[in-house]
Amino acid sequence: MVMIRTRVFAVGILFLIMINTSIVVSQYDPEGHRGTTENIKEVFEGRCWDYDVTRYLPDLPRVDTGCETLWKLFFKAFSYQPPCAVALENYQPYLEEAAQALPKDKVLFWSSVFSLAHQYGDYGQRYVTLEDTLVGYLANSITWCGQSIEPGYNVTRCPAWDDCPLEAAESFWAGASKTFAQRAKGEVSLMLDGSNPEKPAYRRNSFFGKFELPNLTKDVTRVSVIVSHVLDKPKVEVCGEGSLLLLEADVKERGFSYVCKDDPLVVLHLLCASDPNSRECQLVVNHARGQLNSTKKDTPLLNEVPDFF
Ligand SMILES: *[C@@H]1O[C@H](CO)[C@@H](O)[C@H](O)[C@H]1NC(C)=O
Ligand SMILES: *[C@@H]1O[C@H](CO)[C@@H](O)[C@H](O)[C@H]1NC(C)=O
Ligand SMILES: *[C@@H]1O[C@H](CO)[C@@H](O)[C@H](O)[C@H]1NC(C)=O
Repeated sequence: MVMIRTRVFAVGILFLIMINTSIVVSQYDPEGHRGTTENIKEVFEGRCWDYDVTRYLPDLPRVDTGCETLWKLFFKAFSYQPPCAVALENYQPYLEEAAQALPKDKVLFWSSVFSLAHQYGDYGQRYVTLEDTLVGYLANSITWCGQSIEPGYNVTRCPAWDDCPLEAAESFWAGASKTFAQRAKGEVSLMLDGSNPEKPAYRRNSFFGKFELPNLTKDVTRVSVIVSHVLDKPKVEVCGEGSLLLLEADVKERGFSYVCKDDPLVVLHLLCASDPNSRECQLVVNHARGQLNSTKKDTPLLNEVPDFF
């Protein structure tokens, strides 16, 4: 029964993704800027109804405010306004109504590792990211910006974030990040990319540096950093070096304790699941095939699901 329902659900999602992709593709202009997502109201409200009944149960609490009200608050923040002058404060009413209490020790921040961070968080089961909360879930991967004339939002083109300082969506994510950080409790985690030669793992002008770290409260005890590295590529930065020293200083200056790990096993296994043929994963593969000496206890049985999944 459960299987069948899951199947139907998966096919439904696939169908939605297909429809969605065609819409999104049709909205790309030659320079790659998109306009406001088509049917944004329906997408937003539909996600909201879905979240209420099927998503993140029981990891995150439900919100009392109705989906239509949330949409109105969200839409009011940017509609009928120039796209480059939306203050963070405009989204405050939405952020307050959609806010959820966050589970202690389970908040995960991330920079430049969107996909890995969400896999690692296991969609709220291991850790909770901003995109798992209702606030972020409703806005995730959609595009929006306002215009002064009807219908109040620009369907042809929205500016890129770096085109203007207070771009409609950037202001939203800034305000949302700030609110998310203010609600974190206990030990918080931060996942960073240590493999990019062009971008330090920690930057003071990242969302974490600008909006999240400065807004952590006394309810937070420790910042636990995970530096992940692309398999088979040089490790540009590791814990205790480069920008991670700056991060350690910034965290400690705010009175939190600091711990940093390079590619903990859970993360390494996730990376290997996506790229099992990489040189760095071959050791694990050989081990599983019994080609290396090991005690029987360590060797996973065939088809046994390891508990880090
Ligand atoms: C939509 O945005 C584009 C790009 O900024 C702009 O040229 C156009 O005038 C906007 N449309 C309206 C109706 O404001
Ligand atoms: C939260 O972050 C914002 C943006 O950096 C900053 O202006 C504000 O002072 C911070 N709030 C607190 C309580 O530190
Ligand atoms: C495994 O152990 C045996 C005996 O201890 C040894 O002869 C063999 O070379 C080892 N194999 C590997 C791959 O280390």
